[in-house]
Amino acid sequence: MQLVFATNNLNKLKEVQSLIPSHVKLLGLKDIGCFEDVPETQLTIKGNAIQKAEYIKEHYGFDCFADDTGLEVETLNGEPGVFSARYAGELRDANDNMDKLLQNLEVRPNRNAQFKTVIALHLNNNLETFTGICKGEITKTKHGDKGFGYDPIFKAEGYNKTFAEISLDEKNTIGHRGKAVRLLVEFLNTI
Ligand code: IMP
Repeated sequence: MQLVFATNNLNKLKEVQSLIPSHVKLLGLKDIGCFEDVPETQLTIKGNAIQKAEYIKEHYGFDCFADDTGLEVETLNGEPGVFSARYAGELRDANDNMDKLLQNLEVRPNRNAQFKTVIALHLNNNLETFTGICKGEITKTKHGDKGFGYDPIFKAEGYNKTFAEISLDEKNTIGHRGKAVRLLVEFLNTI
C-alpha cells in the first residue's frame, strides 16, 4: 500500500518510514509532484492536520496523512498553540519565539505547558485522527543545543533536562510526535 505523508521534511519522512509497517510505502510531497505550499489556515492544530490531509486527497487523489504540532501554555490559554511556528513573527525564528514566550511568562508563576501533535489520516474515504500529548513545563532559561523549535525551554514531566538536552531516541519515546505516530502505526497494523 502507498500512503503520502504530507511533509517536505525529509527527516520526518525517514523517521516515520522506519516506524510504520513494511507493507506501507511512504511517499513525500515531492514524490507526487506537489511543490506548492499546502494550506494550513485553520485555528486549531487538529483543524490544520485535517485540512492538509484533505487538500492532498482532493487535489492529488492520494490517500494521505498530515501532522500538525503546537506548544500549549496553560496560563496563556493554550498559546502559542496553532501559531507556534510564527509566534514572534513571519520569520519563524525559533530563538525569537522562545524569547517572546519567556518574556510573556516572566511575571507568571504557572509554567505548565504541553506539546500536542495531531496526525490526520485520509484513507479509503475515511478520516481518522491520532493525538499525542507530552506534558511538562517551560524553563526560565534556555538549556541544550539538540532538537529544534522550543526544545531548549521545554522540560517533560518527571525530567530535569530539557528536550534539547536529551537524545532524539529519548525524545521520541516520551514525546508528542512519537506518541501520535505510534497510534497511527497501531491503526495501520489493523488494516
Ligand atoms: P509543525 O506543525 O511540526 O511544523 O510544528 C509547528 C511549530 O511547533 C514548529 O515550527 C516549532 O516551533 C514547534 N514545534 C513542533 N514540534 C516541536 C518539537 O518537537 N519541539 C519543539 N518545538 C516544536
